[in-house]
Amino acid sequence: MSVLSRLALSAGVSILLSTTAMAANLTVGFSQIGSESGWRAAETSVTKAEAEKRGIDLKFADAQQKQENQIKAIRGFIAQGVDAILVAPVVATGWEAVLGEAKDAKIPVILLDRGVDASQDLYLTSIASDQVEEGRVAGRWLTETVKDKDCKVVELQGTVGSTPAINRKKGFEEAIADHKNVTIARSQTGDFTRSKGKEVMEGFIKAENGGKGICAVYAHNDDMAVGAIQAIKDAGLKPGSDILVVSIDAVPDIFAAMAAGEANATVELTPNMAGPAFDALEAYLKDGKEPAKFIITESKLYTPADNPKGEYEARKGLGY
Ligand code: AHR
Repeated sequence: MSVLSRLALSAGVSILLSTTAMAANLTVGFSQIGSESGWRAAETSVTKAEAEKRGIDLKFADAQQKQENQIKAIRGFIAQGVDAILVAPVVATGWEAVLGEAKDAKIPVILLDRGVDASQDLYLTSIASDQVEEGRVAGRWLTETVKDKDCKVVELQGTVGSTPAINRKKGFEEAIADHKNVTIARSQTGDFTRSKGKEVMEGFIKAENGGKGICAVYAHNDDMAVGAIQAIKDAGLKPGSDILVVSIDAVPDIFAAMAAGEANATVELTPNMAGPAFDALEAYLKDGKEPAKFIITESKLYTPADNPKGEYEARKGLGY
C-alpha cells in the first residue's frame, strides 16, 4: 500500500489532500471475469478509461471465466500491496478465504456488477444493478405486451451460479407469477455468450416443433439474445414478431436488432461501474468514511419506441 493511502487510512486522521492528488498515487488491481459479452468488454474499457482519467495505476487481470484465476489474481494484488482491489466475481460462492486475506492485509475490496455469498464486512462496497428488478422489468414488459394471449417462454440463463443468472431468473418468475397464460417452457444456461445463446436456442427450437410453439425468448443478456435471433432466422422464423425477444444490457447490437424489427425490449445495465467505485474509494481513503454497502445502478427499459437507431449510434463507439 502506498504511503499516502496508509496515511489516509490511519484512524480518524484527516489529511488535507485533494481527491485528485490522492487518486494520482493509487494503485488498484482489477480482477475482471473475462470477455464473454459486449457488455463485459465495455465495462473493461470504461474502467481502464476512468482509471487513466484519475491518474490511477490500474493493474488488470483477465480471469478467462475461471474463479480460480480470479483468486490467483487477487492473491497477486495482495502480494504487490495495491491500495485497493476491484473484482467482478464470476460466481457467487467461494470467496470467503481470499477476501479475508485482503481484509487482513487492510486492502479494501470493491465488488463490481455481481455479488458474492460472503460476509458483508469482507468488502467495502458493491456497485451493481438490482438484478432481481432487471428480471421483473423484463417480465412485466412481456406480460403487458402479450396481455391475455397464451405465451410459452424459453429462457436463456447466464453463467450458472452467478448472481445475475440467479436474480434475473427470480425477478422474471416473480413478474409472470400472476399471469397464468405466460409460462417458462424451457430454461437452460447460455453462459452469457452469443455462441452458446445460439446453440441453446437451436435446441429449444428443435424441441418446440420447429419454434412454432415458442412465443418469446427471455435472455439474461443481449449477447445470448443476439445469438438466439440468428437461430430463429436460421429456422425460417421472424425474431421480433414470430418469437418476441426480451433481454438485458442495452448493448449497441441489440439496438441494431431492434431497429431491424428483430428484438423487442432490453433493460439497460450501465458499464460504468468504475466511476462510482473510484468515487467511493477516493472518499474512503480521504476521510475514512465508509460508503453505502450497496450502490445500485439504474435499470431502464428500452423498446423500439426509444429510437433504437439513435441508441445504436450513441453507444457503438463506447467499447462494447
Ligand atoms: O454481471 C453482468 C452481466 O455479465 C452482464 O449482463 C452480462 O452481459 C455479463 O456477462
